[in-house]
Amino acid sequence: MNINLVTSNQGKVEELTSILEPFGHNASQLDISCPEIQASTLEEVVDFGLEWLHNQGTKSPLVIDDAGVFVDELKGFPGVYSRYVYDTISPKGLLKQMEGIENRAASFKCVLGLLLEDGGTHKFVGECNGNIIHEIRGDGGFGYDPIFIPDGSDRTFAELLPEEKNEISHRGRAMKNLLSFISEKGL
Ligand code: IMP
Repeated sequence: MNINLVTSNQGKVEELTSILEPFGHNASQLDISCPEIQASTLEEVVDFGLEWLHNQGTKSPLVIDDAGVFVDELKGFPGVYSRYVYDTISPKGLLKQMEGIENRAASFKCVLGLLLEDGGTHKFVGECNGNIIHEIRGDGGFGYDPIFIPDGSDRTFAELLPEEKNEISHRGRAMKNLLSFISEKGL
């Protein structure tokens, strides 16, 4: 299957492509930014994006990806606002907001949206639990990767090899669900 990855985030393109290609799918990037909406869940953002892309006549099948990091002690913040927080105060600013907080539990969530050629839409979710550390560690990955240690590891996402991150990450898990769906449907 030839899948268009609609995102301007190079990190996502690399991760999604490296998961899709071993299964014989070709992925190409479509560098289109969907308009941002005010929403309280990643699912709503993805639903809006899929509808917008469908109405634009964007070439399908296509996949969009919305993700965020949810900090337990901050009642899930930054969550759907992860991009805004990243662009304004950056992961360092988030660490500052978390000074004095002992419970560092957090989770990443990824919602993938699939738009098929017949206009059908489907969503796939993946989550990864872990902890926010107190400093920036590692050069790999992107976004909040240098401040997040997934459960069962002593390295941040940014210290893992790309294939190690994909194996356990929110995006890797969402992608496994998407791959099972397209294989069951024979797409
Ligand atoms: P969005 O999905 O592009 O809206 O991402 C929201 C924010 O979360 C951006 O600042 C991304 O850099 C960040 N982000 C998304 N996915 C990941 C990830 O897998 N690791 C770390 N940061 C991520």
